[in-house]
Amino acid sequence: TILILDFGSQYSHLITRRCRELNVYAELMPCTQKLKDLKWTPKGIILSGSPYSVYDNDAPHVDPDVFELGVPILGICYGLQELAWQLGGTVANCDHREYGFAQVQINKIDKGGSSVNALFEGLGDDLQVWMSHGDQLSGLPTGFQVIGHTKTAPFAAIVHDSKPIYGIQFHPEVTHSPRGKEVIGRFVLNICGCKTDWTMEEFIGKEIKRIREICGPKGRVIGAVSGGVDSTVAAKLMHEAIGDRFHAIMVDNGVLRMNEAKQVNEMLNKDLGVNLTVVDASDLFLSRLDGVEDPEKKRKIIGNTFINIFEEQAAKLEAEAEQEEKELGAEAKGKIEWLLQGTLYPDVIESISFKGPSATIKTHHNVGGLLADMKLKLIEPLRELFKDEVRALGRLLSIPAPLVQRHPFPGPGLAIRILGPVTREQVKILQHADSIYIEEIRAANLYNEISQAFAVLLPVKAVGVMGDKRTYEQVIALRAVQSEDFMTADWYVFPPEVLRRISSRITNEVSGINRVTYDISSKPPGTVEWL
Ligand code: XMP
Repeated sequence: TILILDFGSQYSHLITRRCRELNVYAELMPCTQKLKDLKWTPKGIILSGSPYSVYDNDAPHVDPDVFELGVPILGICYGLQELAWQLGGTVANCDHREYGFAQVQINKIDKGGSSVNALFEGLGDDLQVWMSHGDQLSGLPTGFQVIGHTKTAPFAAIVHDSKPIYGIQFHPEVTHSPRGKEVIGRFVLNICGCKTDWTMEEFIGKEIKRIREICGPKGRVIGAVSGGVDSTVAAKLMHEAIGDRFHAIMVDNGVLRMNEAKQVNEMLNKDLGVNLTVVDASDLFLSRLDGVEDPEKKRKIIGNTFINIFEEQAAKLEAEAEQEEKELGAEAKGKIEWLLQGTLYPDVIESISFKGPSATIKTHHNVGGLLADMKLKLIEPLRELFKDEVRALGRLLSIPAPLVQRHPFPGPGLAIRILGPVTREQVKILQHADSIYIEEIRAANLYNEISQAFAVLLPVKAVGVMGDKRTYEQVIALRAVQSEDFMTADWYVFPPEVLRRISSRITNEVSGINRVTYDISSKPPGTVEWL
């Protein structure tokens, strides 16, 4: 395992990703992590970049034990400056912030038979890289030599004379450094000697074993499924590990997509064999949403009602278990002790920052209420994985391809896509329009090119004409975006004929709609959802 110590750079998680793409397991931890508290010994350590300057009063610094451990170290950008700060070099502010492409000339060295340092072995004499820094090294730390320089940075890459300690000014983890991944590969594979044993097949085996150990021979687990990728993959993995001792619950909140509850039931229960109960609570949700327009109120009502229904179902299962225990004694099934959560690595990273848990964690990730009330322990089998790793895992677990590639769908569902009050009629109109939209996107083979697409129902009426009659009906807005992580997003440029077909079908087939518009706002300043 490679330990990546995070100093707060926006690229830190990319270092983790690149290692894993090389089939080497890597874990990101805050730079303040004390080595003596680690329960494992890393094969190598990478120090990330940072928005700070090493001389800032509140600059983050690494546990000096890192340099005594004897494992290879690679400092990237701020990580290089931190090396210098700790080991006797000097760092200076550049006249201007360097941001963009640069050419690193690889210095020939006189060491151990090879004229090129192991970090750049086989990568040629110069390397196109991406720089993003305000400070840079102005003096070498003790015992180091230069192995790469640029026009403006005389110490763009350095190495210790006798220890495997490296520093580079550029960012090998971003795709703008075309051979950056190879540089990381030279470090983790050749210099640290890591094995390439981080594969999804390995992960499944290890995780199933871990789940079985945690749950013991009788422990039971419940979890909510939504039909989304994460909860489906987590549910299937639990089923593989403990079979029917995992019980999934799907709550139909009345604001799902068209036929969603039915489809999820068929897929999870019939095709994947997961023990699933679908609860139709749409009446309760819609009655509580009656007349509510404020988006945050809608979210709260849906979140709280969901918890009520989920607890009710769990209590039912618990009562059944108690009854069984009375009747069967030792033969009875165990108690429900665990709650399954489809938490992914980005959520984990967000809450381990050295600056403390981030205030921006979305409320929908918060199941604290459920845990406190029900005295359940949390089980999170996906907490080490990135989204695309979850997708790869899903494929290996034989989850159908269309589901694995599915666009995200928000917990509060269509309630935050119906502007104004939510009624059964409005839900029906939006479900119909949305299903046509997605059907046409799939037919045009564009679904996987788009990160998220959906229809929005506007609470206004517009004038139109149908036959020789004047109409006065509602408006549908279409949204489609491309995004890496949904923190930023660009609106998607459709071929005009696809938009024409979608618009014509919606206005012809969905009664109550006479006008379709296309949303051309990016995020920021817009958000992906309209509410
Ligand atoms: P925004 O609208 O914040 O959306 O740009 C970014 C991503 O988050 C999803 N989203 C939500 N997901 N509960 C969820 O489970 C919510 O309340 C919620 N609000 C937004 C949105 O669909 C997009 O993928």
